[in-house]
Amino acid sequence: MNKAHREFLASPDWARMLENDLLPWLESVAELGDDVLEVGPGPGLTTDLLRTRTSKVTAVELDSALASSLTERLAGTNVTVIEADAADSGLDADRFSAATCFSMLHHVPSAEHQDRVFTEVFRVLRPGGVFIALDSVDSELIRSFHEDDIFVPIDPNTLGDRLGAIGFEDVGVDVDDFQQRFTAVKPVR
Ligand SMILES: C[S@@+](CC[C@H](N)C(=O)[O-])C[C@H]1O[C@@H](n2cnc3c(N)ncnc32)[C@H](O)[C@@H]1O
Repeated sequence: MNKAHREFLASPDWARMLENDLLPWLESVAELGDDVLEVGPGPGLTTDLLRTRTSKVTAVELDSALASSLTERLAGTNVTVIEADAADSGLDADRFSAATCFSMLHHVPSAEHQDRVFTEVFRVLRPGGVFIALDSVDSELIRSFHEDDIFVPIDPNTLGDRLGAIGFEDVGVDVDDFQQRFTAVKPVR
């Protein structure tokens, strides 16, 4: 992420937007359960929302500076931070009651890599576990915010098929001018 982006994601303005926009939606779509995976926590304002609503959070962050500062800030809490690519987390299969991924997928540099993140999330969710995600849509405004940065937005029209091909069921996608929000369930077999 570029510097402006990193600073914004650690700001009180972003914390307020998460409280007012992300949180009501999150609470309305699914139960988090007792053991939550967070993919791409960044500075961790989304982690702060999650950690007060579940027993345990495991946050997987690729950027080593962000992973170490989050580890330091949340030491002694119910959050474990792992520095890894979410496409290859090394976590146990069938473990998590829910997996979340907020404003992260467009930072993954290709659709193929994004699909590997989805596949890994599917692997580590327990049967019946839910994947809850939000990401940007493609727009001039959001592109300009990612100058000199990776920006590979997901196409909401193909998202259902991509998740279905991996094995997810009950995929729900909700799109507006700025963002797409989706949920998907790992089936109980
Ligand atoms: C825009 S930030 C979002 C932070 C936070 N979820 C929020 O909404 O405030 C995206 C984060 O995902 C991380 N990230 C990007 N690719 C990743 C990957 N393959 N595995 C884990 N984290 C990744 C980035 O380093 C960055 O910290």
